[in-house]
Amino acid sequence: MSWAYRTFLRPLLFAQDSEAIHHQTLQILGWASRRPIICDLLEEFLGAQELPVNLFGLRFPNPVGLAAGMDKYAEAVPAWNSLGFGFTELGGVTWHPQEGNSPPRLFRAVSEQALINRMGFNNFGAQAMAERLAVWRAHGRWPKHPVGINLGKSKITPLDNAAEDYAASFRILWPHADFFVVNVSSPNTPNLRQLQDRAALDEILAAMQEVNREWSVVSRQSSVAGTEDNGQRTTDRKPILVKVAPDLSFDAFDEILELVRPRQIAGIIATNTTITRPDTSDEVARRIYAEPGGLSGHPLRARSTEIVRHLYRQTKGVLPIIGVGGIFNADDAWEKITAGASLVQLYTGLVYEGPGLAKAIVEGLRRHLIESGLKHLSEAVGIAA
Ligand SMILES: Cc1cc2nc3c(=O)[nH]c(=O)nc-3n(C[C@H](O)[C@H](O)[C@H](O)COP(=O)(O)O)c2cc1C
Repeated sequence: MSWAYRTFLRPLLFAQDSEAIHHQTLQILGWASRRPIICDLLEEFLGAQELPVNLFGLRFPNPVGLAAGMDKYAEAVPAWNSLGFGFTELGGVTWHPQEGNSPPRLFRAVSEQALINRMGFNNFGAQAMAERLAVWRAHGRWPKHPVGINLGKSKITPLDNAAEDYAASFRILWPHADFFVVNVSSPNTPNLRQLQDRAALDEILAAMQEVNREWSVVSRQSSVAGTEDNGQRTTDRKPILVKVAPDLSFDAFDEILELVRPRQIAGIIATNTTITRPDTSDEVARRIYAEPGGLSGHPLRARSTEIVRHLYRQTKGVLPIIGVGGIFNADDAWEKITAGASLVQLYTGLVYEGPGLAKAIVEGLRRHLIESGLKHLSEAVGIAA
């Protein structure tokens, strides 16, 4: 599948503007998502085998997830399951609807297998996202895997009011997803990354855990408490994860880790895109690299793995880590898992390798397990940390 995509389809897609193709693809997947028979067909060809992971009280049918940014508007919620993903992270979404930066804002560095983006959290706002998710559920189109939502700060909200901004989005979206991600690591909202500072992050997490407390009381009292149609839990507190930038120092990561216990951080997602640029001899790539924004894909792989490994060592393996950055095949995913990731995610790999990628990675991970003489994926987590 990957070969056919790379040889025939990708050249046609890459001849056009990146963002235009992204929108067209999401529209097609949205169309497919509203037609169960098409989703069943997709799943027949592209669905992945089981390789279950139990984490945060949730059951992931396999450890390969869709990273934030691909389905910002929750356009194709059921389709990702059919394309073999073991979980989906929707968004980033902000409290206020916003257009994001002006185009062009998404660029391919093809020779480097990389993307640069400065989207700037273009989204319809948390309220619209909640309504859209309610519609998928009402139509019986909720996927059979965990769904998370990536929360960002609205551009118009001053940094000092960030905690309220995140908490407002969380409050309205709480019933609609299985886990939430505090994104304080996007390079495309001015000064957002300052919120990775211990005190600022502490304030955001405190406000969100307060919302979690309020909602868990409501949901325990309400008769709808119990499990959702996808078998995931709805009561108790929702797991809150923090997504970090690859450009922080190890000391800065350690400061974030100090908040894990007091603020009940369920896990860390490592990493977002980087503002650094590697050396390249390719003239076209050098021109693309001059664009401001976050770099993702192959050049990010080693750094994000290094961070996964650091976080795993520092927490002695007790804190769940989701590894993301430059995963293009099963070996890349295995590298993240053995460095300490319990789950992985990808975005850029899907653009370069096509829709068979999640299935291929799950197959490859199953092979890795057999070759290593391991029975369960959890036994592989951190063995090379
Ligand atoms: C176009 C684009 C938009 C993105 N939007 C978000 C976002 O809204 N929130 C977020 O946390 N990460 C976002 N990301 C980062 C990805 O989720 C991921 O962390 C990063 O791309 C590294 O993974 P990859 O190398 O597999 O792409 C975005 C990435 C791209 C390429």
